[in-house]
Amino acid sequence: MLYAFELSGEHEELPAAEVLACLKIEELDFQPHTKVDQCLVVDIVGKVENVEKILKGPITERLAMTHHILKVIGITENTLDAILILTNSFESSYFIKEGQSFVVRAKSIKHHVNFPSNLLEPKIGGFINRKGFQANLTNPDVEFRLILSGKAVLGTLISSINRSAYEARNPQNKPFFHPGVLVPRVARAITNLSKIKPGEFFLDPFCGTAGILIEAGILGARVIGIDAQENIVRGACMNLSAFELNYTLVKGDARMMPFKDGTISAIATDPPYGRSAAILAESLEDLYSCALEDIQRVLKPGGIAVVVSDKDASEYGKQVGLEVLEIYFQRVHKSLTRRVTIFQK
Ligand SMILES: C[S@@+](CC[C@H](N)C(=O)[O-])C[C@H]1O[C@@H](n2cnc3c(N)ncnc32)[C@H](O)[C@@H]1O
Repeated sequence: MLYAFELSGEHEELPAAEVLACLKIEELDFQPHTKVDQCLVVDIVGKVENVEKILKGPITERLAMTHHILKVIGITENTLDAILILTNSFESSYFIKEGQSFVVRAKSIKHHVNFPSNLLEPKIGGFINRKGFQANLTNPDVEFRLILSGKAVLGTLISSINRSAYEARNPQNKPFFHPGVLVPRVARAITNLSKIKPGEFFLDPFCGTAGILIEAGILGARVIGIDAQENIVRGACMNLSAFELNYTLVKGDARMMPFKDGTISAIATDPPYGRSAAILAESLEDLYSCALEDIQRVLKPGGIAVVVSDKDASEYGKQVGLEVLEIYFQRVHKSLTRRVTIFQK
């Protein structure tokens, strides 16, 4: 069965990478099918009820850079004729039951259509109405969604991601604030990219105010943080406690961590950037090379470490035997481009 993920436009690649990581975490049997601007379609094999239970439950809870998940009715060329043929001819019984009401919503991504997309909702609604279903614009049983991107993807809504929950956890809303924090959506996405599962040990060796640890803790991981500054560690405690999470925090040095070899399942972290004053190391080079060496040491074989930096971290990781799986670039502003480097031990 095909499922579509309506992705946020905050990055070209990260939202799709986050979806694929979450599907792997949940051990779903899937193949990527179609990728267009802000929409990823995936073919998931398995009993539909089981698959949808996982999509509606843990996957919806985990994702940060997706808006909606759809069960796909069809994918077609982005022309008015092709879309109308698809919407007129699909087999409705798979998507809407007798007696259920519906609404149609069309979403145009950037400038992918050259016809007035607002006319499509009533037109498609008319077709579905003629199949014997009543429209209900305020409280429908089924929402049909048409995504107009590089292709047109039609589906029914399975679930929506509660993106405002991430806004509510913005750094300014936490008890302890310190500048230079990743926003919770990015922190959650990189946590997902680390493929951490509930109950496993998750480490942030440069934990700062615990923005990443909070996202991992909400996912049920056993979170461990290290930071070199005592006041920051105290602040991180306040922030983690505010979310009633269990945690272990250490005032220490990411270059010499007090953990045994091969004990940590996953790591996600953003070490200090070049201009940061708060660096405990002889130089930034020393910090990156020694910290990545210790990250490699404490990670379990096969474990993932996600490092967010303004500096190229990949060479430091390779030198200590970590494999670079992926690097994503994210332009923050004119003078800052972040790199998200995914390493595997
Ligand atoms: C960019 S901040 C991390 C921000 C963090 N993600 C948050 O949510 O607040 C980097 C942190 O690394 C810490 N740091 C600097 N050198 C360190 C070292 N050698 N070992 C551990 N932490 C260090 C700094 O005190 C700072 O809090």
